[in-house]
Amino acid sequence: MITHYADLELQTVSIQGIKQAYADSLQLPILYESSHFIRFQLTPFTTLSFKETYEAIHPVHFAIQVPYSQFISISSFIHQSGLFILKQENGQYIDETSTRKNLYFRDGDGNLLEIIAHEYIKENQVELFGQLKGMYLREIGFPVKSVPVFRDWLKSTLKMKTERDQDTFNFVIGGTAHAVVVSKERPWIPISMKALPPKMLVTLGTPNINFVKKLANTLDNNSLESDKIYFSKEGYNFCVKYSSDFEMSLLKELNLPL
Ligand SMILES: [Fe+2]
Repeated sequence: MITHYADLELQTVSIQGIKQAYADSLQLPILYESSHFIRFQLTPFTTLSFKETYEAIHPVHFAIQVPYSQFISISSFIHQSGLFILKQENGQYIDETSTRKNLYFRDGDGNLLEIIAHEYIKENQVELFGQLKGMYLREIGFPVKSVPVFRDWLKSTLKMKTERDQDTFNFVIGGTAHAVVVSKERPWIPISMKALPPKMLVTLGTPNINFVKKLANTLDNNSLESDKIYFSKEGYNFCVKYSSDFEMSLLKELNLPL
């Protein structure tokens, strides 16, 4: 099964601009850097990568889970970072219910980032670093033509799950990884941003090497390497990778609902 997002690789037209946003402003450690590629450590189990390209960028939406008890201080850090914070419809920056808080902001490329915290998630299960204190990459947005078709493919092929099925917006979940499957017609909150499908390579982690091998039999046009498999669906590039560092037991310890 899928336990987490291991890497999110996006396109950019400026590695230098990306470096200013993620290394200087958000203070994420750089793991690797070349003239056309950069990789940051985003959370203990997830890296965030950017590849320089000469084409228009479609902004992506992704959300980082942070500890509920530290949400306000992490929000202040983002306010002080100089990145552009977005207001909710009511004019407030933080949106909150009795058990969930979130805040939306943008990087220099216009990507729509979010920090989100839930009261029920147990906080002390992963070692947090830096001032962003990301626990895991929770959400990546996938605008698609048909939500049911893509959702059902994620469920049948990657064995991801839903709490309930909806037609224009659906969380499809594998451990900590939430695919936010939305209709292209449904704009992203809180700025009603057009949901253009971004070019990206999404690497999903599994602690089961046999899961990777089994996918080779079920997926069309896949490319299998020793511990990972590459394939595409709906214009999105995927990789499923065996990750021995993420223990299945962590899912229970985090108190995830699914
Ligand atoms: Fe979100």
